[in-house]
Amino acid sequence: MKILIRDIKALLQTENETRSKVAGAEMASLPAIENAYLFIEDGLIRAFGSMADFANSPYVSYSGHSDIHEIDATGRMVMPAFCDSHTHIVYAGSREIEYIDKIRGLSYEEIARRGGGILNSARRLQESDEIELVEQALERLEEIRMLGTGAVEIKSGYGLTTDSELKMLRVIKKLKDLSPLTIKATFLGAHAVPAAYKKRQHAYVDLVIEEMIPLVAGEGLADYIDVFCDRGFFTEGETDRILMAGIKHGLQPKIHANELDFSGGIQVGVKYNALSVDHLEFTGDAEIKALLNSDTMPTLLPGAAFFLEMEYPPARKMIDSGLPVAMASDYNPGSSPSGNMQLVMSLGCVKMKMIPEEVIHAVTLNGAYAMGVEDILGSIAVGKQANLIITKRIPTYAFLPYAYGSNKVERVIINGKL
Ligand code: NIG
Ligand code: FE
Repeated sequence: MKILIRDIKALLQTENETRSKVAGAEMASLPAIENAYLFIEDGLIRAFGSMADFANSPYVSYSGHSDIHEIDATGRMVMPAFCDSHTHIVYAGSREIEYIDKIRGLSYEEIARRGGGILNSARRLQESDEIELVEQALERLEEIRMLGTGAVEIKSGYGLTTDSELKMLRVIKKLKDLSPLTIKATFLGAHAVPAAYKKRQHAYVDLVIEEMIPLVAGEGLADYIDVFCDRGFFTEGETDRILMAGIKHGLQPKIHANELDFSGGIQVGVKYNALSVDHLEFTGDAEIKALLNSDTMPTLLPGAAFFLEMEYPPARKMIDSGLPVAMASDYNPGSSPSGNMQLVMSLGCVKMKMIPEEVIHAVTLNGAYAMGVEDILGSIAVGKQANLIITKRIPTYAFLPYAYGSNKVERVIINGKL
């Protein structure tokens, strides 16, 4: 299928020379072409430019052809679809009961200590079969696609037994076949210590290292490895051992760090060349320094900070120090039951004082980097996959984060298909 989009009010995040990520002061400028066209063929972006150049381009002859799908984008903007680099979208049921406990004053950690939280989701997941899990996850994928997401990373971590972790990862593998979205899978066996291993945390860590990782890698079920390195969950030392084992089996780290405390997670992630370290509510000078000397993408999840009413990560300080920043939804039943990346952008602006240009970088190219797809997605560049958003009629791109809570996406193109 060939698609010609013409009279685009503004084409955002364009690149003539591709970049792998955008950092520091560069994040404040967003490359864009006003009054633009874009041509898609065989699922890829073939050409783009200004309408003034269109008249002299070879593509002008396509206009009006019957084998071309032509879209008039007057008043609308076109941009790369969101790359949501951190989610837990495969889960069974929901956890509104804990939400009410939280409203009444219990903290996330108190709920977890009472056997709620991740362990609650683990019980339900263990009781569900693969088909139910695939069905529920497909509905969530369809929901986020309509909100503009074109690529998503999905973690295991609600299995917490060898069989159930493998089941979860097989579900993610099925989703890769069934969904048009680009999907990456992350093994998160060390998400919480299951009830059966209470007071024997070291034995659970051994199980993850000696049994789970070899089986997961052997079946080719994961692209990345994750650990919840935080107070009350897994220590820096345990994280170190698990990451080392994962790397031996070809799994690059992408970890949960510093959500609840200065856990050492950022440093251990950097030590093992993590693709990303995520959450980062507790980030100080030492953590920023470690990140500055690394290729690791700091990834912020403001939906979780909002939902749990935590301090937000110091995004402003990170960017002003020269770091890149990505943002993701963390879509999960406990700390962020929403996969709405448009809302994530609004939270980035309102709560973390990022400007619209910065949040757009954070959910497109930097998000792509944080899930290892920056060479094929995340920007408008010739040869990249055509995963695009066509917005509704909007006055400026700042309107995207500004009009929080409403869907500004009119159409989504995934791999060149409407
Ligand atoms: O990223 N922090 C750890 N894991 C998830 C929450 C999982 C849950 O509560 O079910 C998170 O916030
Ligand atoms: Fe998470």
